[in-house]
Amino acid sequence: MSSMAGKVIKCKAAVAWEAGKPLVIEEVEVAPPQKMEVRLKILYTALCHTDVYFWEAKGQTPVFPRIFGHEAGGIVESVGEGVTELAPGDHVLPVFTGECKECAHCKSEESNMCDLLRINTDRGVMIGDGQSRFSINGKPIYHFVGTSTFSEYTVIHVGCVAKINPSAPLDKVCVLSCGISTGLGATLNVAKPPKGSTVAVFGLGAVGLAACEGARIAGASKIFGIDLNPNRFEEAKKFGVTDFVNPKDYDKPVQEVLVEMTKGGVDRAVECTGNVNAMISAFECVHDGWGVAVLVGVPNKDAEFKTKPMNFLNERTLKGTFFGNYKPRTDLPSVVEKYMNKELELEKFITHSVPFSEINKAFDYMLKGESIRCIIRMDG
Ligand SMILES: NC(=O)c1ccc[n+]([C@@H]2O[C@H](COP(=O)([O-])OP(=O)(O)OC[C@H]3O[C@@H](n4cnc5c(N)ncnc54)[C@H](O)[C@@H]3O)[C@@H](O)[C@H]2O)c1
Ligand SMILES: [Zn+2]
Ligand SMILES: [Zn+2]
Repeated sequence: MSSMAGKVIKCKAAVAWEAGKPLVIEEVEVAPPQKMEVRLKILYTALCHTDVYFWEAKGQTPVFPRIFGHEAGGIVESVGEGVTELAPGDHVLPVFTGECKECAHCKSEESNMCDLLRINTDRGVMIGDGQSRFSINGKPIYHFVGTSTFSEYTVIHVGCVAKINPSAPLDKVCVLSCGISTGLGATLNVAKPPKGSTVAVFGLGAVGLAACEGARIAGASKIFGIDLNPNRFEEAKKFGVTDFVNPKDYDKPVQEVLVEMTKGGVDRAVECTGNVNAMISAFECVHDGWGVAVLVGVPNKDAEFKTKPMNFLNERTLKGTFFGNYKPRTDLPSVVEKYMNKELELEKFITHSVPFSEINKAFDYMLKGESIRCIIRMDG
């Protein structure tokens, strides 16, 4: 047990005081983990677009002051009452959605939507007692998706923590804690392209590129990469993308362009933008008879998906996924092993790295569309 077990830890955290304002590194107090909770020392964290959406709070419920961050790698510092599966020193990836292992979803092989721990972006407190574990001068600072990894220490429900191979480098595998697993699983577990099929991926950020990586691993014959930002195309070649389509280059909807290019539509489409028009395009560009489209991007909360019901009657399927349908505790260790066995490359996703003191630069890189993933080093 760490010498701080059961005590409050004072450490640095990047606090978002207001929507859209730069984060401020503050000294926060992190309470000890309560029943079924663990306290982690975060070593590396990365910025995902979902953090940015909720920090901007334009189409989402504002919850401030808040500590964002959900893509990370760390080490268990101490554990609360009832925790038997994790011990101090374990190497772990925190996950924004959980696995209690007891509910109907956790018991089903088909679902990772745990009843107890499924993502709740509006909740800023622990589910056990409805309190925050973070405070500054006695005033609570809210959590984000149960993880809040932009802090040197954080408290997380044990069901949202995956124990991984301790020899896996945390500065690389931390990106598996959200975006890369999400995109990879969206293709491999949900779209399931048969070998030789054509796959369209909308949005070539980290999640979309991971979806492309999944298509490459599945043996797709063609991978269409669709993005509004042409700077993404050069990078995407490394991920097996064979054809690029920028919707801005055409005066008709991109789904029509894709249907023409493929003489009837792609076999699979994976949407990784969060833009509702891209979601509609992804569905409408799949082939009738067998096409499957998978939605991954997180839309504005008021967005509505519109399409003609005939598109379904013509035997197209629309699906959505959280976290690539991976069960965090059961499945994530094996995704880490895919990296360890060199089946999956993670280095090509990591384009930037900054010390914790410069965390706001990670936001700039993402907002300018320059980064795929920027690693934030907590010791810096
Ligand atoms: N469902 C899940 O479990 C889950 C998990 C993680 C992330 N996400 C979501 O996945 C999405 C992608 O995340 P990311 O980190 O890769 O973001 P990112 O910003 O790095 O990438 C998004 C890309 O989409 C492109 N884009 C935006 N609108 C477009 C449009 N209309 N047509 C084509 N391209 C468009 C952008 O230019 C950008 O390159 C986000 O919405 C994120 O919130 C979902
Ligand atoms: Zn994420
Ligand atoms: Zn459950």
